[in-house]
Amino acid sequence: MSEKLVFITSRIPKIGLELLTAANIVYKQWPYERKITKQELIENVRDCSILFNVGSNQLDKEFFKACPKLELVSLLSVGYDHVDVSAATQYRIPITNTPGVLSKATADTAFLLMLAVSRKAFYQHKKILKGKWQKKIPTDILGIELHNKTLGIFGLGRIGLEMAKLCKGAYNMEIIYHNRNRNEDAEDLLNARWVSFEDLLKQSDVLSVHSQLSEETKGLFDYRVFSQMKDSAIFINTSRGAVHNEEDLIKALEDGQIWGAGLDVTNPEPMAPDNPLLEMESVAVLPHIGSATVETRNEMVKLAVQNIIAKINNESLLTCINPEVMELT
Ligand code: DGY
Repeated sequence: MSEKLVFITSRIPKIGLELLTAANIVYKQWPYERKITKQELIENVRDCSILFNVGSNQLDKEFFKACPKLELVSLLSVGYDHVDVSAATQYRIPITNTPGVLSKATADTAFLLMLAVSRKAFYQHKKILKGKWQKKIPTDILGIELHNKTLGIFGLGRIGLEMAKLCKGAYNMEIIYHNRNRNEDAEDLLNARWVSFEDLLKQSDVLSVHSQLSEETKGLFDYRVFSQMKDSAIFINTSRGAVHNEEDLIKALEDGQIWGAGLDVTNPEPMAPDNPLLEMESVAVLPHIGSATVETRNEMVKLAVQNIIAKINNESLLTCINPEVMELT
């Protein structure tokens, strides 16, 4: 049996435990429903060589320093804004994530939000729950249509590309995007056009955020930015809540600077139940379910375990965020 001990921070789909067991890997698992605290995480990982991390536990310098036996962190997420990657590299710990396998499910969530906002679906549903399904006059609570509109993607990578394909196929939407680098696949496949950030704001009927959270993108979508968008525009965010400023988003919606918003990510998470966004007509909020399907969660877990097995067998990691760490070991 391998001496490597893996700590798993949450319940995971059973395929993950089966794969670990089949590979004779010893693991222990956080047994409670509640999120593990920082101190509890350190206490549990201190004697482990591998952390299988689920969710947004902050993995900072203090954590890496306190866990000297750690040889790998395998994240069950594509995002890694909760990890101090340079501290991990300094402590010679490779970090792996789960890109690719969740792109379609996350794009589906963005598409679902876009459609729900465009027809005020969550608001209409709440009216039924409140016993307010009344006969309406023809101008009451109208949505807007998406056919032939312009989809603007901020951060056109794997997930953005899947969202663009859905919107092109369903509504023949024109695709524009803003990235640091051009995405030639999207340009060839969908006639996507690179535009400046200012033009993305000005031209998008739906603006969907798919960028990572970084120093550059933190709080980027604020009131000043929203006020440059069309007053008929829908803002969608399925990446990280901190990319938009929530108070500014509320004000932009109240002032009619934009028409609607669909969020799978909020800041903070969970969103407070009395957040004014939850009562607005053209707003749809979901509790960060981008990758939450049976198929995708299984694929994510498989990839996370494959990285663990590769590390134990001294093979190349499949999806390493800080490959430079290999040069140091
Ligand atoms: C991801 O994989 O980054 C999802 O947002 C879940 O955190």
